[in-house]
Amino acid sequence: MKIYERYTDVELAAMGLPGEMPKHVAIIMDGNGRWAKQRLMPRSFGHRAGMEALHDIVREAHCLGIKALTVYAFSTENWQRPVQEVNALFGLLTEYFEKEIDELDANGVRIVTLGDLEPFPPKVKACMLSAIERTKDNDGLHFCIAINYGSRAEILRAVRNISKLGLDEKDITEELVSDNLYTREQPELDLIIRTAGEQRLSNFLLWQAAYAEFVFTDVCWPDFSIDEFRKCIVEYMKRTRRFGKVVE
Ligand code: IPE
Ligand code: IPE
Ligand code: MG
Repeated sequence: MKIYERYTDVELAAMGLPGEMPKHVAIIMDGNGRWAKQRLMPRSFGHRAGMEALHDIVREAHCLGIKALTVYAFSTENWQRPVQEVNALFGLLTEYFEKEIDELDANGVRIVTLGDLEPFPPKVKACMLSAIERTKDNDGLHFCIAINYGSRAEILRAVRNISKLGLDEKDITEELVSDNLYTREQPELDLIIRTAGEQRLSNFLLWQAAYAEFVFTDVCWPDFSIDEFRKCIVEYMKRTRRFGKVVE
């Protein structure tokens, strides 16, 4: 089992990453199907390769000193895919948790999910809940997995929860909305990476993305390496974030 070491400032500078590290990075892991098609293989083959690619990226996020990594694993719209593909994805998710949990836990990673877990088969749900429970007191990287996640559903859920509080209109604030989203314990979103060349959000973190930077890469998710990840962060560090202010 690997124990993750944080990079030193000297190491980060040597990688071309001397700037301020994003605290919260989200990844839309896209292109598994195309990656498989290019190899004349079924889509599930691409999903397996995609699951394997995740291992190194989570470790790297920890080593870089990123506080929260959120990945889009299954959207509320992905239920429209063929049932065999959906089942293959659930099988891979369960396998991922079973395979990775010891290493993640040993490295202080806290697992969080975003999305409604209710519709999942009991075995898949139990596996996710046990990973969440086991790592809930860890204080390392927050590894947030968006499964059966849709940003509109998330915002709607927040609105419904807030409406039950019987508050005065003036007490309904942006902060209160943020506190009712799945990301309530994560830092502000700094960077969204999307692989496989598409340039859209596909119902991911619409509220949280208000001032996030976007980096798009043509690389399909199964080929997204540590090197690619670092390139995205180098790109992020070149950006000037203004937040509506004048920045000289
Ligand atoms: C991303 O890869 C994984 C999921 C959406 C679950 P895709 O399966 O969307 O791959 P492409 O976009 O069809 O290539
Ligand atoms: C977004 O990718 C969802 C995930 C990566 C889990 P999709 O492949 O489902 O998005 P669209 O359909 O291309 O917008
Ligand atoms: Mg896709």
